[in-house]
Amino acid sequence: MDRKDPMTRTVLVLNGPNLNLLGQREPAVYGSTTLADVEALCRHSAQALGLSADCRQSNHEGVLIDAIHEAGREHAAGRLVGVVFNAGAYTHTSVALHDAIKGSAVPVVEVHISNVHAREPFRHHSYLSPAAAGVIVGLGIDGYRLAIDALARRAG
Ligand code: DQA
Repeated sequence: MDRKDPMTRTVLVLNGPNLNLLGQREPAVYGSTTLADVEALCRHSAQALGLSADCRQSNHEGVLIDAIHEAGREHAAGRLVGVVFNAGAYTHTSVALHDAIKGSAVPVVEVHISNVHAREPFRHHSYLSPAAAGVIVGLGIDGYRLAIDALARRAG
């Protein structure tokens, strides 16, 4: 975890498959901002709230599940306020990620850069939303900042 001070609580910012391609991937849908830009925005937003952002990206479902489990343990220990999670296409397919969120009892804010409800029908269903503390959709990368803010407020 990316903590400078052991007393500083963390927010995990977890990005799933293909989000490493931000900036070059379908710019008309996702914009020109890179994942590095998003992570810098998250670190800055977290710092302004007295938090540290632990930013990770994986294209592998099992790695994302392990990260959620770890977040559950960190949350239970009082070191982590929650998870900002853009699971990419796994949102629409993964019962395993749904179960990981439920099983870890960690607050998760589901984020999508694009408005998935204005896109193809297969993007309209999320397996994560019923297990999430909240959902932010279609506000571009600003959704990450709003999610960090919401988790900080929720944690008090
Ligand atoms: C996305 C939307 C998903 O449908 C898609 O598979 C992604 C990105 C978004 O941020 O808008 O990879 O989660």
